[in-house]
Amino acid sequence: MLLLSKFSKNKIIKISQKSFFSSVNRQFSKPWDYTSKRSHYPNSQVTLVLGSQWGDEGKGKLVDQIANEYDVICRFNGGNNAGHSVVTTINGKKIKLGLHLFPCGALHEKTVNLLGNGTVIHIPSLFEEVKLIEDIGIDALSRLLISSHAQIVPDLFQLIDGLEENEKSLGVAKKIGTTRKGIGVTYAMEKDRIGLRVGDFYGIHNDVIQKMQFEEQLSSLMRICKGRFSYLLDPKFCSKEDRRKWDEYTDIKRAMDRYTKYSKILSKHNTVINTMDYLNDAIKKFGKKILIEGANGVLLDTEYGTYPYVTSSCTLSAGICTGLGIPPRLLKKVDFNVIGVAKAYQTRVGEGPMATELPKEENTEMALKGGEFGVTTGRQRRCGWLDIVALKYSHQLNEFDQLILTKLDILSGYDTVKLGVGYRLKNGQTLHKTIPIDNSNYDDLEVIYETLPGWKEDISGIRSFEDLPINAQNYVRRIEKLTGIFIRWIGVGPDREETIEKLH
Ligand code: GDP
Ligand code: IMO
Ligand code: MG
Repeated sequence: MLLLSKFSKNKIIKISQKSFFSSVNRQFSKPWDYTSKRSHYPNSQVTLVLGSQWGDEGKGKLVDQIANEYDVICRFNGGNNAGHSVVTTINGKKIKLGLHLFPCGALHEKTVNLLGNGTVIHIPSLFEEVKLIEDIGIDALSRLLISSHAQIVPDLFQLIDGLEENEKSLGVAKKIGTTRKGIGVTYAMEKDRIGLRVGDFYGIHNDVIQKMQFEEQLSSLMRICKGRFSYLLDPKFCSKEDRRKWDEYTDIKRAMDRYTKYSKILSKHNTVINTMDYLNDAIKKFGKKILIEGANGVLLDTEYGTYPYVTSSCTLSAGICTGLGIPPRLLKKVDFNVIGVAKAYQTRVGEGPMATELPKEENTEMALKGGEFGVTTGRQRRCGWLDIVALKYSHQLNEFDQLILTKLDILSGYDTVKLGVGYRLKNGQTLHKTIPIDNSNYDDLEVIYETLPGWKEDISGIRSFEDLPINAQNYVRRIEKLTGIFIRWIGVGPDREETIEKLH
């Protein structure tokens, strides 16, 4: 196979993969085992929890479970498109919390919860979550820090996101099936350098000059939006209620009143700061422990996901450097650990390819069994068997130190369970560790499955790996073998306690 081409005196010299590696190997007597450098210790100074599939893998549960061992819990990407569930019992009362923006350290009173510069924030939704947490009797606002650089999601962007989806549904372009939370519109405006940042309005309640400047920014943004998006008011995509919302959301006075109020509330606890300075000091000067909560999933990453059926942020481990302002070299110096979260089967919400997706009836059966309904939109999630090819691809992009395999309990009761271990493309090519770049390849793609015997027992009460039915153990071991990733924990229920720690 051809690996590299380089120019020499206008002549292209092709170097084959074989000769490239043999020439490299000549320089080393023994190949370096890079896996031996991996941290298997989950309790590192900086730990990242990342969804390895298309989101909803169970990140929230894990973050909540380990948050008490950390000082600061951070989000680096996305906004309230995320829906992270936390289930626990406090003072004898069962609590199920669906968090969208507030990090899942919410229920641990000693943690600081931080929204980094890479996040996009719909302030009213954030306040709703703060209220939800405070209604449980836990202080939230005083433990929240927001980057002054984070982009604001104005109400209008959420409306535009929805109207654009309506328009696409009519066949104008590919419908993505977004959460309609304005995420794509906000990141697009940021890249276009006309978006608004939290630091732009923070302080306007007691600074007349800043207030005037923000009003000018806001007015200019509204002018641009009216120019670009008024066509969406076409009754073909826009209901009367949406039209009413448009008028409300483009009203500058209303918006100014709201942002002035938000500024006042946030200033009570000095919530908006330079989080980049804060985090770097926390790590370097004070040796604090940082837990980073990924949103969405690796296969929804804008660059590496199944584009265009993706979200609009970087969902990869690489995203924490830009989304929080932590330099890669600092991560090299501290003990840094990346935990991949993978569901024991697979789900996806919205449009886009999923090679191992089940046919309709079995799909619904698995969705009902697993309670697969979105935390953010309530949509039924599409279900399928675990895709090892996609998981290996995800691993290559993130270099997981270990995995948590969630929802193994949901697979109880199947006669056989399947693993998608390869893709056979129409042109005869087979893929084992990377997904196709071109989505059209999915149309005729054949998945190569390995079928394993299932297990009947309810495993939700089991707490040790050796006590699992042997077929469940074999399923887990087989995933480890195929992916080369150590599975450190296994989820057997939604509660904090319903987890098996597997030491080897
Ligand atoms: P996230 O977006 O990755 O945080 O995941 P979601 O919260 O959107 O979806 C995961 C769902 O599975 C939630 O309802 C969790 O309470 C639930 N859950 C997490 N781990 C397990 C598990 O091991 N078993 C079962 N049965 N449910 C789980
Ligand atoms: P958590 O953090 C599942 C999907 C949407 C849609 C696509 C783009 O709970 O795992 P967007 O609103 O981001 O522009 O939608 O991405 N999506 C998610 N799917 N879980 C999520 O987050 C998701 N965040 C976005 O369904 O297909
Ligand atoms: Mg979710």
